[in-house]
Amino acid sequence: MAVNIEYRGEIAVVTLDNPPVNALSRAVRQALFDATEALDADPSVKAVVLACAGRTFIAGADVGEFEKPPEPPHLPDLVERIERAEKPWIAAIHGSALGGGFEVALGCRFRVAVPSANIGLPEVRLGIVPGAGGTVRLPRLAGVEMAVDMVTTGKPLVAPEAAATGVIDALIEDDLVAGAVAFARQVLGRPLPNRLRDRAISAPSDTFWDAAAKAVAARARGEEAPPRALACLRRAAEQDFDAAIAFERETFLALRGSAQAAALRHVFFAERAATRPPELAGTVPVSIRSAAVIGGGTMGVGIAAALRDANLPVTLVERDAAALGRGVSRVRGIFDSAVKRGRIAADVAAERMAGVTATTDYAGLADVDLVIEAVFEDLEVKRDVFQRLAAVCRYDAVLATNTSYLDPETIAEGIGGPERFLGLHFFSPAHVMKLLEIVPAKATAPEVLATGFALARMLGKIPVRAGTCDGFIGNRMLKVTRAQAERLLLSGATPAAVDAAMRGFGLPMGPFEAQDLGGLDIAALQRQTARTRGETPFAPIADRLCAQERFGQKSGGGWYDYAPGDRTPRPSDTVSAIIAEAAEGYPRREWDEASIVSMIVWPMVNEGARILEDKTALRASDVDLVKIHGYGFPRWRGGPMHYAEAHGLDRVIGALDAVSSDGLADPACEFLLCAAARGGFSACIR
Ligand code: 3HC
Ligand code: NAI
Repeated sequence: MAVNIEYRGEIAVVTLDNPPVNALSRAVRQALFDATEALDADPSVKAVVLACAGRTFIAGADVGEFEKPPEPPHLPDLVERIERAEKPWIAAIHGSALGGGFEVALGCRFRVAVPSANIGLPEVRLGIVPGAGGTVRLPRLAGVEMAVDMVTTGKPLVAPEAAATGVIDALIEDDLVAGAVAFARQVLGRPLPNRLRDRAISAPSDTFWDAAAKAVAARARGEEAPPRALACLRRAAEQDFDAAIAFERETFLALRGSAQAAALRHVFFAERAATRPPELAGTVPVSIRSAAVIGGGTMGVGIAAALRDANLPVTLVERDAAALGRGVSRVRGIFDSAVKRGRIAADVAAERMAGVTATTDYAGLADVDLVIEAVFEDLEVKRDVFQRLAAVCRYDAVLATNTSYLDPETIAEGIGGPERFLGLHFFSPAHVMKLLEIVPAKATAPEVLATGFALARMLGKIPVRAGTCDGFIGNRMLKVTRAQAERLLLSGATPAAVDAAMRGFGLPMGPFEAQDLGGLDIAALQRQTARTRGETPFAPIADRLCAQERFGQKSGGGWYDYAPGDRTPRPSDTVSAIIAEAAEGYPRREWDEASIVSMIVWPMVNEGARILEDKTALRASDVDLVKIHGYGFPRWRGGPMHYAEAHGLDRVIGALDAVSSDGLADPACEFLLCAAARGGFSACIR
């Protein structure tokens, strides 16, 4: 039974048990509905406590049911039934009360929670609006301003914050159900507060709504749900309860079937699937209680900060005292800036720094559980580091490289205990970016690979298993994107037009702006290495820019010019001349935004398909996560592979054919053709 009722004197305790997260499936809704009827009819019951078994209160509607037509009893009707119950219901919250789960709690007359609980309406993150009265009841309880913030961002509140604003009526430190029953007995002696449906709401001015609309548009560029959620909240403030509920439901149902909601659901499930590569089922990871980072440069300091954020003691190792000093002060800079932005308190920053031990002596690593190497991208330097680590570290310590392009097998060649080695590829800045590519070498032991995934969870990162190849998943696709961006310039587009089109598609930056920000030199170095391997990387314009030391913002110019101290990209005559020279002999075309996007995105998908073909990625959804969490591909488009499937793979192939015949892209690969024929990428994965 999903719902169990027990009686503690005149208080009934309804316990919902639907693992893993007590989602409101149809069966659960029905069982809860039946419970309200039965308890209203039972004269011995004076109040009802609603609690949940397992790790959390109700995490929301069952997202898996969103692909099917809604079935009764509908959630809004259940919430209304609880709200209209003759006896007061008290939601007893632990874990999370999210979406429909919080809406059920809003239907209850009271809400109590353990201090570690959180509550929220994250529906916009799934491309929908709350569908069971959240936008109508929350502003009546918390005020319009707070409701606008919670609903349009989807961000949860922790219970003590919610208690401070009256959304939670009491915090319960010890036994939640016992505390909730005691709370019920207390309130029975007093007049009950009005049901939320009967409470007044004070409507803010037009100025408030205009400012809120501007903030939402700036924060959620391209997304449909946040402005629609704001519209629901405005109705709630300006119309009567039932009209606002009807408007919210209509909006919810319209968005539930939208392309954005399907894309965001895809990402929701992809993020959870990525944490569990099938081959690791049942494998126990190595326990990580301490870590070291070798190299205190750009990546090393970010990785050290991320490890400290997860409360792991960190030893930072540099090659000499001067470099060590720079590294330590950069780690401190990260925490100082978090204090300035109000993200952490000053004492927390001090405590994070106190957990960093700085040394130039590898002997200090004899007892660490995990070492992450982030020294120069130079094979010999890295090989030397791993020889030293293998000699000094415990045999069961995990040794990881953060290399971007070098072959992990070669880096670890000849070390003692190669089974403890793997690639952990972080993205810059490593304390911010969510993606972690996890790259097993041939000898990596399963428990060491599982440790990569456990570490990602500790650090709050999205793990994606990647195979060994030049650039793993993300940088391999990036090479194709950059080549396509240059082909566009050779055939008549400008950097500004390409960047604007990709921003219009939803990326935070276009490919040329992004290169100017990160620096053109790293990719140039990588192309040089590729040439020594006999490869012929395609970057005719970037090569010319680098020859003139136009490395991007840091050298005062790259694809654009920059005025000193100003990061605004300005179209450059020098670059136009370089493009014109490189483009000699190329046929020119007119490019509109849609055709620019198609020239960049479909070849990206084609490379993603090759990545699946050679098993560098396990699933198309993993490729999507890499692009979303490492490269800013809009989440609401679901990642390139989902976007292509939703668009129609036959149409993608048609678009590739149209440009590949002119040499502007590679033709569709076998795997893409297979996926089109069989109705999706997963059907071709062996
Ligand atoms: N529906 C269906 N399945 C869900 C779910 C949901 N709402 N929430 C989580 N799950 C599943 C996950 O897919 C996962 O399944 P798997 O084990 O088969 O992969 C399992 O539950 C565990 O999830 P997590 O790995 O995320 O567990 P955590 O313990 O790390 O996190 C959580 C728990 C914080 C509750 C997190 O799962 C979460 O944020 N869930 C989604 C909450 C949400 O978005 N709710 C709103 C839904 S929409 C809605 O309610 C509409 C309403 O307004 C009408
Ligand atoms: P960086 O040049 O900023 O830092 C490298 C640091 O390593 C320097 O501080 C240097 O003093 C130190 N170092 C060199 N040899 C050492 C040794 N033997 N022992 C200890 N320290 C030593 O380089 P960055 O950008 O941090 O890159 C580091 C690694 O991370 C490279 O392999 C790079 O490919 C990879 N990477 C870089 C990304 C980026 O965006 N910068 C993204 C992802 C991976």
